[in-house]
Amino acid sequence: MNYRINPKTGEKLSLLGFGAMRLPAPEGDPSGIDAEESVRMIRRAVDCGVNYIDTAYTYYEGGSERIVAEALKDGYGDGVSVATKLPVMRLLSADEHEGFLETSLRRLNRDSLEYYLLHGVKERYWPTVKECKTADFLLRKKEEGLIKNVGFSFHGRNFEFFREVLEYAPWDFVQIQLNYMDAGIQAGVKGLKYAASKGLPVFIMEPLKGGKLTERVPPSIQRYWNTLNVKRSAADWGLSWLANFPEVTVILSGMSSMEQLEENVDVLSRPDAGRLSEYELSVISDMAAAYNKLIPYPCTACRYCVGGCPMGIDIPLVISMRNEATIFDCHEKIRDELNHFVRKLPSTCVACGKCEDVCPQRLRVSAILNETAEMFEDESLQWWRAYVNKGGAS
Ligand SMILES: NC(=O)c1ccc[n+]([C@@H]2O[C@H](COP(=O)([O-])OP(=O)(O)OC[C@H]3O[C@@H](n4cnc5c(N)ncnc54)[C@H](OP(=O)(O)O)[C@@H]3O)[C@@H](O)[C@H]2O)c1
Repeated sequence: MNYRINPKTGEKLSLLGFGAMRLPAPEGDPSGIDAEESVRMIRRAVDCGVNYIDTAYTYYEGGSERIVAEALKDGYGDGVSVATKLPVMRLLSADEHEGFLETSLRRLNRDSLEYYLLHGVKERYWPTVKECKTADFLLRKKEEGLIKNVGFSFHGRNFEFFREVLEYAPWDFVQIQLNYMDAGIQAGVKGLKYAASKGLPVFIMEPLKGGKLTERVPPSIQRYWNTLNVKRSAADWGLSWLANFPEVTVILSGMSSMEQLEENVDVLSRPDAGRLSEYELSVISDMAAAYNKLIPYPCTACRYCVGGCPMGIDIPLVISMRNEATIFDCHEKIRDELNHFVRKLPSTCVACGKCEDVCPQRLRVSAILNETAEMFEDESLQWWRAYVNKGGAS
């Protein structure tokens, strides 16, 4: 395994971190966990030199934290750093801080944590985080010795908001979504470099875009690969692109099978991991361009449409999901994401046309929302919608 140094603490961290959000599922039940196999995989990762595991209060409603605890029994946890997260998307008042931390510690069977984060900071949750003084709570727990490193994971819209959050408190680390298709969204490469310039370690999530870069390689990309002298798998290209940034400290990957774990360990253990040639970098740019050519609806996320929508639909988000379904041929993943993470579903569109009047791309927004609703909305998840609309998810 290759290791990188945490620039704040001098600690040696494995370049591959184990993301415990996409654990192997029992046959036919993607929301469940194959606990035995998950424990085997985490232990195998530790045996291969992985020394950073990322979990969260919300993953599998605590199931992930419990499995991490189980896997790290019997000496497996020695020298392994565990990160878990305070669920800001569920936070209603400051009184809840202690309970979230205590529950995570209990599930993880620990008295303290190496890394603790605000989970998935977005514009929507930020006012509550500030009102509740959640960062102060984390810093207090650090002083009390319950947490060694405090940080935040970020899913806000752009670099400017990332910088605002980063400058809000004396964080010890940040976690950002980054892969070669998302270089310019959310914190992006700019955020990676900015955080590193402030001396912070940067932990990467969704390095393979949650599996969209590996699930099905489109025929146009496969034809391009066939012409190349360098042969790498889809996972290899994605992880190697990230390893090439010296500012990246740990690449967290959620691995749902032992084969995926073995491959990712191999890629990030190679002596030349992080040394892509100019030619290989140009291959990745060509690949990203080829994916982008498949975009059916060229929304630029300017967000002119959003303010005028009487239903409060996050139109650019819904269109980006609709686009990704085609680009990455990942309809099941999009069905899952749309029904679980989108607050206002596209079917609530009343076709008032206000968005179409202001769209610089002249997109037929109502028709796209309607198509997306027909393709992906799932009525069997009505109970979940009720929960989301009470403020239970993003
Ligand atoms: N803080 C946050 O808000 C937040 C958000 C997202 C993630 N995270 C953390 O970051 C971790 C990493 O993100 P992620 O899970 O999205 O990582 P990822 O590596 O982008 O996606 C994981 C998925 O990629 C596919 N994959 C992984 N290795 C592969 C390989 N060698 N060959 C083929 N497919 C492969 C699998 O998809 P299939 O299962 O479809 O095969 C796997 O489930 C998470 O596990 C979680 O701990 C945090």
